[in-house]
Amino acid sequence: MSNIMKAVRQHAFGGPEVLVYEDAPKPEAQPGEVLVRVQAIGINPPDWYLRDGYKALPPDWRPKVTFPLILGTDISGTVEAVAQGVTGFKPGDEVYAMVRFPGDLAGGSKGYAEYVSVPAAELALKPAGIDHVQAAGAPMSLLTAWQFLVDVGHHEPNPFQPTPHQPLPLEGRKVLINGAAGGVGHLAVQVAKAKGARVIAVASGRHETLLRELGADDFIDYTKSNPEDAVSDLDLVLDNVGGPAAARFLRCLKRGGALFPVYPLGFAGAEEAASRGVTVSATQVRSSGAQLQELAPLLSNGTIRVVIDSTYPLAEAAKAHERAGRGHIQGKIVLTTA
Ligand SMILES: NC(=O)c1ccc[n+]([C@@H]2O[C@H](COP(=O)([O-])OP(=O)(O)OC[C@H]3O[C@@H](n4cnc5c(N)ncnc54)[C@H](OP(=O)(O)O)[C@@H]3O)[C@@H](O)[C@H]2O)c1
Repeated sequence: MSNIMKAVRQHAFGGPEVLVYEDAPKPEAQPGEVLVRVQAIGINPPDWYLRDGYKALPPDWRPKVTFPLILGTDISGTVEAVAQGVTGFKPGDEVYAMVRFPGDLAGGSKGYAEYVSVPAAELALKPAGIDHVQAAGAPMSLLTAWQFLVDVGHHEPNPFQPTPHQPLPLEGRKVLINGAAGGVGHLAVQVAKAKGARVIAVASGRHETLLRELGADDFIDYTKSNPEDAVSDLDLVLDNVGGPAAARFLRCLKRGGALFPVYPLGFAGAEEAASRGVTVSATQVRSSGAQLQELAPLLSNGTIRVVIDSTYPLAEAAKAHERAGRGHIQGKIVLTTA
């Protein structure tokens, strides 16, 4: 059997043009790992942050990368082989995973390839009711929504704050989701609804029909009015845009409420939050096969639907990154292997 595969690699940091479809060594599963023949790969912001050298991070935080690098955390495919020490998976199983995140930023998670070797603890059986494209769209965005809103699922130190992130009860709560049409946002809307929240979705107007279909009770088009002027007495804001502008939502929250900036870098409102009695808290998504297994029935039965913005062949990963760079993503961009 050939030990060469096709992969998208990069030999330098840069724009989408650095992504090259070429031959690469086929990985071998190490003890505790599962070799997966990849059928689809979901793309995520950390892919383009790493492609470009993580310029938004403080220099000390930037991973020291060894080229060539293979990006790609989110995969869905078929088990090719299992290494020593793996139980629970066998060749032929259809599986999905978020691979080595945030563990192996420097090496890339290696999903933009025909084969990837995945630690068994990060893998779950693919939800039977959805295809590989939808399954590959789920892992990072859905784990982010779940770990922010429902269950962090681990006790690793939090790089964003000294205290652990704590989700709030959602039943009957008034929850605003900003950036609601994107990868994390459209899944967070559905998670919050499934947990009994009243959901206000904020996005540009072309996403309104979809977000109402997904369960949003109210919709605010941020291109027509400022959401922070239109709402009050919220229990929770999940801000998928985040950054310095997240602080504008503090005044919309009840005392005792919480603001969760999914992109917390640059948040500038700690004093105001304290004076208003609002908790500001973030976490960093982590790989979890156990949580993907727990979520699989909700994906399979349609409680949570992965919306596909667009698909591209793996060989055209650069075009997929160009699409991502144009913004206004609705759901997920997914690569497919031949
Ligand atoms: N903490 C973590 O572990 C973690 C994990 C995953 C992602 N993230 C971060 O979370 C952010 C979102 O990730 P994603 O995968 O959901 O990204 P995405 O798929 O690119 O979605 C971003 C969405 O934001 C919307 N948007 C842009 N500007 C907006 C504005 N001013 N107000 C409201 N909506 C706006 C866009 O559509 P429209 O403008 O058309 O509405 C788009 O749908 C990224 O910054 C990512 O780095 C953090």
